[in-house]
Amino acid sequence: MTTATVPRVRTKTIAMRGDSVEILRAAVFHTPKNTFEYPEALFAITDGAVAIKSGRIAACDDYIAVRALFPDAVVRDLRGGCILPGLIDTHVHFPQVRITGSLGHSLLDWLDAVALPEEAAMADPDHARVVAREFTHGLASHGTTTSLVFGAHFADATAALFEAAKHRGLRVVAGLVLSDRLLRPELHQTPDVAFRACRNLIENFHGRSRLQYAVIPRFAFSASEPMLEVCQSLLREEPSLIFTTHINENPDEIAQVAGLFPAAEDYLAVYEKYDLIGRHSVLAHNVHTTDSQLQRLSAHGASIAHCPCSNGALGSGIFPLTRHLDAGVRVALGTDIGGGTGFGILKEALQAHLMQRLAAQPRVLSPAEMLYLATRAGAEALSMETEIGDFTVGKAADLIFVKPPAGSTLHTVLAHTEDPERILGAVLTLGDQDSICEVRIEGDLIYEGRP
Ligand code: GUN
Ligand code: ZN
Repeated sequence: MTTATVPRVRTKTIAMRGDSVEILRAAVFHTPKNTFEYPEALFAITDGAVAIKSGRIAACDDYIAVRALFPDAVVRDLRGGCILPGLIDTHVHFPQVRITGSLGHSLLDWLDAVALPEEAAMADPDHARVVAREFTHGLASHGTTTSLVFGAHFADATAALFEAAKHRGLRVVAGLVLSDRLLRPELHQTPDVAFRACRNLIENFHGRSRLQYAVIPRFAFSASEPMLEVCQSLLREEPSLIFTTHINENPDEIAQVAGLFPAAEDYLAVYEKYDLIGRHSVLAHNVHTTDSQLQRLSAHGASIAHCPCSNGALGSGIFPLTRHLDAGVRVALGTDIGGGTGFGILKEALQAHLMQRLAAQPRVLSPAEMLYLATRAGAEALSMETEIGDFTVGKAADLIFVKPPAGSTLHTVLAHTEDPERILGAVLTLGDQDSICEVRIEGDLIYEGRP
């Protein structure tokens, strides 16, 4: 299979900008607070509406109330579907789209045999531009409006990702992936070269359009102490940057890191030594963690990107969610493409639910908690919760319209219930790429599915 078949980008600014108000009428769901702390925080209404003015949320309530506020607004009747906040993916790898579904490996052998050869192909900027289109299409068509993305080990390829995200209108936080040992020689940069390349990318992309920059050592295994110092310097120079990396994913990886950093108390301490962990940090996985690390993560205000499909696909283990929540550690969701099984954040929420039933400390995630993990929790992890993540008046109108295709099981379920919790549970269980009809960021239509 060699033909590239990414549909053309169909981004349009809805002709509603300016002072006019547009009302979308449908079932509406959002979680304006952390549902683990405030279990009643789910807003769920079957005949609801969201009003949009100048790209912001002007109202969100039942339809009659919203209509009364804006009697002159244009109303789009979208009943039969649901409106949710844009989905947020806090851990995904740009170069790995095409290897999704290479099942049967564990982390270190998957990296060697599958992921790293694919990442080496990013040396070719033309190839990177094509993959960047495939990748950004994957995000948009699954309803992911904001993502924290591992770029490539190559600056030009990482720039191609930023350009594609800008063209598509996506909110993307991304960066050059930094490694200087133990991968493949072509994926290594010297710390000096890495520092200059990052500065250049920050200059060109950080804070522009809907883009932000993240400092990304791949993981402690492939980053020497001088490379971690580079990360520290970049964050000191520009404190508005996000920091992201991997941690405690797999027992063999953890043992290797312990051998490489014999003076460090544990995996987290490797990053702590260089002041890399704080409110701005999003660490992927943390499956095999300790109480001490959980306490420190909580004290730092750092977040974990929980990637339940990847944890299953790579046999990494069952994430101890209850221990994280009990320790007060923030948790959001990530797809971890291509170790994960697809771009769907709704699917990650479902997989989190299924795996937590089986965890050592089992818990039943409610639809409200699943929605929170898929939306507002991601916004909190990225310190964007005052701008996105729910439909509080004044926030950016980042939203998805979910409407099941005729003949789908989701269509059948929604046709037979008016109960908002059951509707939401069904969307979280059965919703997929085919159900995503419209994706808006700041009111702009960045993806349109079936007519
Ligand atoms: N650890 C280091 N690199 C990777 C990666 O690409 N995917 C996952 N899941 N873990 C990693
Ligand atoms: Zn990853």
